Amino acid sequence: MSQTRSANPFRPGSGIFPPLLSGREPETTMLEARVARTREGHPQHTALLGEWAIGKTTLLMHWRRRLEAAGDRVVLTMAYPQSRDDFLAALAGAIAAEADGGWTTKVDLEVGLDVGLAEARLRKPVREVDKELRALLRRAARVGDRHAMIVLVDDVDLITTPGDALLQLRAIALELYASGVAIAFVVSASPGLFGSIRGAHEPLVRFFEPITLGPLSGAAARDAIARPLMDLNVTFDDDVVAEIVELSGGRPYYLQKLAYFAFDVAEAGRVGRAQFAAAFERAFAAVSQEIFAARWSAMAPVERRVVSVVASASVARPSGEIEGEAERLGVAPPATRQALHRLAARGHIDRLANGQRGRYSVNDRLFRRFLELQACQR
Ligand SMILES: Nc1ncnc2c1ncn2[C@@H]1O[C@H](COP(=O)(O)OP(=O)(O)O)[C@@H](O)[C@H]1O
Ligand SMILES: [Mg+2]
Repeated sequence: MSQTRSANPFRPGSGIFPPLLSGREPETTMLEARVARTREGHPQHTALLGEWAIGKTTLLMHWRRRLEAAGDRVVLTMAYPQSRDDFLAALAGAIAAEADGGWTTKVDLEVGLDVGLAEARLRKPVREVDKELRALLRRAARVGDRHAMIVLVDDVDLITTPGDALLQLRAIALELYASGVAIAFVVSASPGLFGSIRGAHEPLVRFFEPITLGPLSGAAARDAIARPLMDLNVTFDDDVVAEIVELSGGRPYYLQKLAYFAFDVAEAGRVGRAQFAAAFERAFAAVSQEIFAARWSAMAPVERRVVSVVASASVARPSGEIEGEAERLGVAPPATRQALHRLAARGHIDRLANGQRGRYSVNDRLFRRFLELQACQR
């Protein structure tokens, strides 16, 4: 056993590239087929949908690297809570910054957004920004034969009116398509995106064809933990790996978080169940503090009561049963139904569609534990 301590390979965070990008081959194959059709003059646009921390940003970064390596021009920008017009101005800024950089292969530079440029654009009238954006894209897309221009927009649902922003991107894409420019948009958002933009839902969901990201499979989750350890002088016992996979439910953020803390408690290069118990408490405390506490404090009192009722069972239960239990706690059934919808829309509880009435549960093991502890404190 070596005396030197290896650096912790795990990367719990947001948009931080993991030591191993595990799984995601089917999604990548699908995206690349769409890009191939785009190169041939039949553009296909994508909405990458997935819950919080499921790996959307990471996958966009991975796609950008691959597409750039294949010779395409790629822009990756992050949307913020901002108006549609500010978003378009920032996008124009990002494209201009990439174009100024001569599209050199840069691998780790995120969001080529020049703040000064973006601010100058913010002061321009909207129509001018829109015109400029089209001109920039047209210029940028002149990459020669058999290559495409790909615009990746992360977290598009942070924009105040995401439907408006998407309609605008669609209008731009259609105009450029008509003039023979090979360009495709890929936007990422939470799964509720199309539900939240009712009016424009129909045309948009056909235009931005969804690719839905779920949790990693058991095998991919095991790889995400075991493979980064392979060249290091630290091993996790098999039952520890199995427990991390189980507790995480395949959510990559939890995998990174649990593995990170597990790595830290290795004794003589090994992590067994005893060490992992301490690591789990630390990881759970960190996630509670960073994520769950804010989530809980943003909930209305009725939502807190309803989410606690849902979390009190480990199986999915029909809404009627939950309504009954909540009523005994003083919440009227219509209020419970409304809370269930809101909680599910925000991804805090899971809904199994089962005919008219859904069944609800909290599948996230760590969040369920947090809620159980909240209930004990009352
Ligand atoms: N396929 C994957 N394999 C291993 N780890 C991943 C994978 N995808 C994401 N991660 C890790 O999970 C965390 C959350 O990923 P992120 O891309 O920020 O999620 P999102 O953008 O959906 O909120 C990061 O720490 C990232 O490194
Ligand atoms: Mg993200």
